Amino acid sequence: MKIFGIIGNPVEHSLSPLMHNSAFKYLNIDATYFKFKVDFEKLKYAVLGADSLGFCGLNVTVPFKEEAINYTNPDKLAEQIGAINTIKFGKKIEGFNTDAIGAFMALKEITEIKDRNILILGAGGAAKAIAYALSKYARIFIANRTFKKGSDLAKKVGGESIKLEEVFNIIKSVDILINATTVGLNEDKSLLYHEDLHKDLIVFDLVYSPVKTRLLKEAEMVGAKTLNGIKMLLYQGAASFEIWTGIKAPISIMEDAISRFFDPVY
Ligand code: ATR
Repeated sequence: MKIFGIIGNPVEHSLSPLMHNSAFKYLNIDATYFKFKVDFEKLKYAVLGADSLGFCGLNVTVPFKEEAINYTNPDKLAEQIGAINTIKFGKKIEGFNTDAIGAFMALKEITEIKDRNILILGAGGAAKAIAYALSKYARIFIANRTFKKGSDLAKKVGGESIKLEEVFNIIKSVDILINATTVGLNEDKSLLYHEDLHKDLIVFDLVYSPVKTRLLKEAEMVGAKTLNGIKMLLYQGAASFEIWTGIKAPISIMEDAISRFFDPVY
């Protein structure tokens, strides 16, 4: 049996096992996908250990996407982004980033991206992938708690950085707001509240636990269009699946598995 998994901390909320195991079952692939909670200082051993134990692939989630790249041979895209969310084990430990394509596909389903003003909250692994993907088409603003990290990312993608507490200065001209921080993950918190938002915004939260985060609730209060993190989860997962197996991912099967999780009567 082939072993796959996800490493992160926290990781309990991850729906990746459900999604990938449903795909393996549907395609009769003898494989299983597990979740592994890893301490930050043991990340290296987790990656090298998985390789030694003959694992086939791993997803990498918070807060390891930037650090984990150091234990892989990243492809060109992952190297340019500076973060990975997918590892393939074989002759080499290969690193990939499917967050960029996942976020892009999810967003483009609901809105035009070209020439939009996009404000990204965060400058971690996920934010780096999204900023990279969207900066080719749109104008990017980055607001991050650690300002230096935000300004470094903005510089890299040709965008502008602003202080988190000064977001209100530009929010009127923002078309798409993306939360790429971990704020709101398993907690009823948000970096922005309804008084900071407006109805013409599209608000995209990468967090999908809970599916309707506090930020998305606040956005709904002002009549803004919202996008939760499920579609990005799905598209990045499908791209990882294809890297590992070389087989086209059964997206509708993976999506059904997630839908059934949220609505057992589905
Ligand atoms: P991911 O893989 O999801 O990108 P990450 O790399 O750990 O996770 O990045 C987490 C992001 O959330 C960072 O931008 C972090 O800000 P810092 O660079 O200042 O650490 C942001 N973040 C986490 N907790 C936060 C909080 N309480 N307030 C504001 N930003 C926060």
